[in-house]
Amino acid sequence: MIMKKSGGCVNYIGSKAKLIPFLQETIKGVVGEDLSQKSLCDIFAGSGIVGRAFKHEVDYIISNDIEYYSYILNYNALKGKKVEQSAIYIELLNVLKPLSGLIYQHYCVGSGCGRVYFSDHNGQKIDALRQAIESYKEDKNLYYFLLASLLESADKVANTASVYSSFLKTLKPLACKEMVLEGLDFEPDEKLHQVFCEDANTLISKIEGDILYLDPPYNHRQYGANYHLLNTIALYDIFQPQGKTGVRNYVSSPYCKRRSAFSALEVLIREAKFRYVFLSYNDEGLIGHKEIAQMMQRYGKYDLQIISHQRFKAYDNKKCKHSTLEYLHILEKF
Ligand SMILES: C[S@@+](CC[C@H](N)C(=O)[O-])C[C@H]1O[C@@H](n2cnc3c(N)ncnc32)[C@H](O)[C@@H]1O
Repeated sequence: MIMKKSGGCVNYIGSKAKLIPFLQETIKGVVGEDLSQKSLCDIFAGSGIVGRAFKHEVDYIISNDIEYYSYILNYNALKGKKVEQSAIYIELLNVLKPLSGLIYQHYCVGSGCGRVYFSDHNGQKIDALRQAIESYKEDKNLYYFLLASLLESADKVANTASVYSSFLKTLKPLACKEMVLEGLDFEPDEKLHQVFCEDANTLISKIEGDILYLDPPYNHRQYGANYHLLNTIALYDIFQPQGKTGVRNYVSSPYCKRRSAFSALEVLIREAKFRYVFLSYNDEGLIGHKEIAQMMQRYGKYDLQIISHQRFKAYDNKKCKHSTLEYLHILEKF
């Protein structure tokens, strides 16, 4: 069986994959080298790379994201236990006969829908696998392992310039390759990690801990729109795809709107029952860093670290080497 590391969707908008050493160094510099008695909450978890990077060092992780695909990936990476005979399940799924289901009907050109998100064969293969995985629903551990593996395997052959807000007109070479389900390789532990799929501003009043890491969206790009197909594969429900892109209804985040981003952030910080708050934000964001600094100073001892970071690149924009400044706002609450 082909195994791959959990977190393959690394080209995730706003991914902190490349900033992990900086985050580890800064957080330890403030909180202390030994984090083994501390909890860390990654409340905008996305691909989950931050939680995974800290899970062996801290007492436990609280992970959350409003998007369901993210919940699946994070549940498997943090709470997943070793799946006995996982290779057999993966092999059985990989030899299933492709069939015409939701993905083929709405997102493959052969069905006549006009959308080219996957090759016809891969769309039908995703349908066959997704329907088969549903029969394992009673075994939550196995179900999330297979679903997380399918999400990452499907994402690798998507015919997009990285996100699902649009598709490429013709199939790119990677999208022509047959999708092969790869079982995600993760390191299970016995820690009491918690994983949620809620609005961060609702969840914040129900949790407490030591370190709160905030990585909210910083621009207008709604994740529910940009990754709608991952939610569709994960949910596999009946819905009406909208317009040319076939987007499904999604929850609109206040962090992606200029008029609500600042107040949402302030409420989150004010309500946080965590001693340390670390906020990643970027110099092209909807909220200015001075505004953030002034606001955070109202809630405790404030500090700032800045690092230069290469921006997110799309498939059709490989020459763009633009780098941005990434701010890490640090707060020790009163
Ligand atoms: C910048 S990304 C996080 C990236 C993540 N740190 C990583 O490295 O992959 C922001 C995340 O916030 C999530 N999000 C947006 N609004 C939210 C809200 N109100 N509550 C919880 N999560 C939200 C998005 O779905 C997205 O995954």
